[in-house]
Amino acid sequence: MTNTNNDSHTDSIAWSHIHDLAKEAMTKAYAPYSNFPVGVAALVSDGRYVSGCNVENASYGLGLCAECGLVSNLAHSGGGRLIAVVCVDAAGNYLAPCGRCRQLLFEHGGPELLLMTPDGPQTMASMLPWAFGPDNLK
Ligand code: THU
Repeated sequence: MTNTNNDSHTDSIAWSHIHDLAKEAMTKAYAPYSNFPVGVAALVSDGRYVSGCNVENASYGLGLCAECGLVSNLAHSGGGRLIAVVCVDAAGNYLAPCGRCRQLLFEHGGPELLLMTPDGPQTMASMLPWAFGPDNLK
């Protein structure tokens, strides 16, 4: 895989471990309607890891994306900033977070947050350009 981000900070991130945690979280998904389990995991600024899985609902539109669980886990386990995120599908392949979830992740990681893609880690600034966020409300 090509790492398109040459920041040494990026190279020091345990991407393989985050990937493993995302795949583990995916196995906990509750996705009986779409049959599309998703897992996501992230490194937090204090060094801990958080994760989440999608949890669907008989009222289809109320289903929770995996990233919803991740940010809930982040807050519940002590907060902090998201540094690096890996999202996966049932096969463990890197999955693009949906638009709404990019917004959720942006809130807690900002433009520097790194998201693993098939082309290597990409910044949230590139995945969600000119994002609306907390700074707009100041
Ligand atoms: N899904 C996520 O959990 N995260 C995403 O970023 C993309 C989509 C879930 C929602 C739904 O349970 C299933 O994938 C199919 O759309």
